[in-house]
Amino acid sequence: MSTVAVASDPSQLKSAREDIKELLKTKFAHPILVRLGWHDAGTYNKNIEEWPKRGGANGSLRFEVELKHGANAGLVNALNLLQPIKDKYSGVTYADLFQLASATAIEEVGGPKISMKYGRVDVSAPEECPEEGRLPSAGPPKPAEHLREIFYRMGLNDQEIVALSGAHTLGRSRPDRSGWGKPETKYTKSGPGAPGGQSWTIEWLKFNNSYFKDIKERKDEDLLVLPTDAVLFEDPSFKVYAEKYAEDQEAFFKDYAEAHAKLSNLGAKFDPPQGIVLDGVTGEKFVAASYSSGKGSDMGCGGSKVDDLPLVTRCRDRKELIKAASDHRYALAAAHVLYFHSLRDVGEAIRRFVDEELVIASSSSPGSPVLTLPSREGKSRPKSKNSSSSTSISHSVDDSSHNKRKNKEEEDIEDSHLHLSSGSELNSDSGHIHIHDTSEEEEEVAATRSAFNFLQF
Ligand code: HEM
Repeated sequence: MSTVAVASDPSQLKSAREDIKELLKTKFAHPILVRLGWHDAGTYNKNIEEWPKRGGANGSLRFEVELKHGANAGLVNALNLLQPIKDKYSGVTYADLFQLASATAIEEVGGPKISMKYGRVDVSAPEECPEEGRLPSAGPPKPAEHLREIFYRMGLNDQEIVALSGAHTLGRSRPDRSGWGKPETKYTKSGPGAPGGQSWTIEWLKFNNSYFKDIKERKDEDLLVLPTDAVLFEDPSFKVYAEKYAEDQEAFFKDYAEAHAKLSNLGAKFDPPQGIVLDGVTGEKFVAASYSSGKGSDMGCGGSKVDDLPLVTRCRDRKELIKAASDHRYALAAAHVLYFHSLRDVGEAIRRFVDEELVIASSSSPGSPVLTLPSREGKSRPKSKNSSSSTSISHSVDDSSHNKRKNKEEEDIEDSHLHLSSGSELNSDSGHIHIHDTSEEEEEVAATRSAFNFLQF
């Protein structure tokens, strides 16, 4: 096994890609190669600047010490499949080979074209492997928090978490590797490839959006849903994307391709620094024309030989901005959903406070406002205005100035109603805040609808 830290050679990369395609025709190893690429890159920690300490796509997963990490169970099989190709092309690094194999596998089973770049430098010794525990667990106590903790550390966001999880449209989970899944199902008992395991989708060697559709419907016991898969339809922010991808495969392909390219570059050191592009497609940004019909919409500003003219550049920038705005609408909508949830919580807290803790009492002396506090902590208070068992704090003020202020306060109460669409209202007669009970689902729908209405343009 090579331990030399060198970057890759473009012509060898292209030949290696052809060899990977040949390998896939007989071994059907697409899913495990995708998992290999993800597990090499997914150790990245954006808070560590130094390479290779920061982890990421640097080929460290070839070393036994890292292959033995619990999360990597079974990946030695993927390495063994690729080793002959590595031996044949000394000008291709492990780091590049893992990412090349993963992207090629996605494309070969009908997935989007991914704008990859190569030239990743390999780490050279097992001491440079990351410590265990940087990859996600499938069954943590709080799946949404866990996914955010792990993926935010990599610099990825909610949308990218959901899109990348869609890679589970491929492959199976095996109890003898990860501990998850059934030993076999009607969809896996006869392969292709080594039989067994439990897949997330029926056609687990086809890349499409069935992962999202199947989790949503959950009608087949033979299909796997890990806790970290289920949460994509439970967490309000993840759910916006999961629903979108279940409805719209093209949107999924677009977001997946961009997120995959980004993932593949995490923590990598490139030589040359700008990387090597094999197919004339650069950057992480998804090019619509390059994944579907080959003639996708370019919003009227692409594919010409005058690509560098200022007008064309501006047109291209405009296209990017429109796309980015469209993407951010979903993030903004998700943020609004969270915001409305928080409003509801605040409303609940105020209601509890008013009901249980605070009693406004009228004073025996008209000149002294009285705030009556509960006498025993945590006990519900009677709603009587003159509870004798309450502790009173009163403060006396000069009568005339007090009366002026009182009048002012009354005016304020009358004038300063805050109307919330979530159903809270201030009743100035009783001095109570009323919060109507609305079902959680209704609130969520209303919140999402109003966020979307707000965002229509
Ligand atoms: C979101 C957090 C994730 C968790 C908790 C998770 C967990 C798992 C588990 C438990 C398995 C089964 C492994 C086995 O038993 O062989 C698996 C398989 C797989 N994972 Fe993930 N995964 C996650 C994200 C991803 C991502 C981001 C990708 C790729 C972009 C990915 C791609 C795959 C693939 C393709 C397989 C199937 C491998 C095979 O069939 O051999 N996973 N994952």
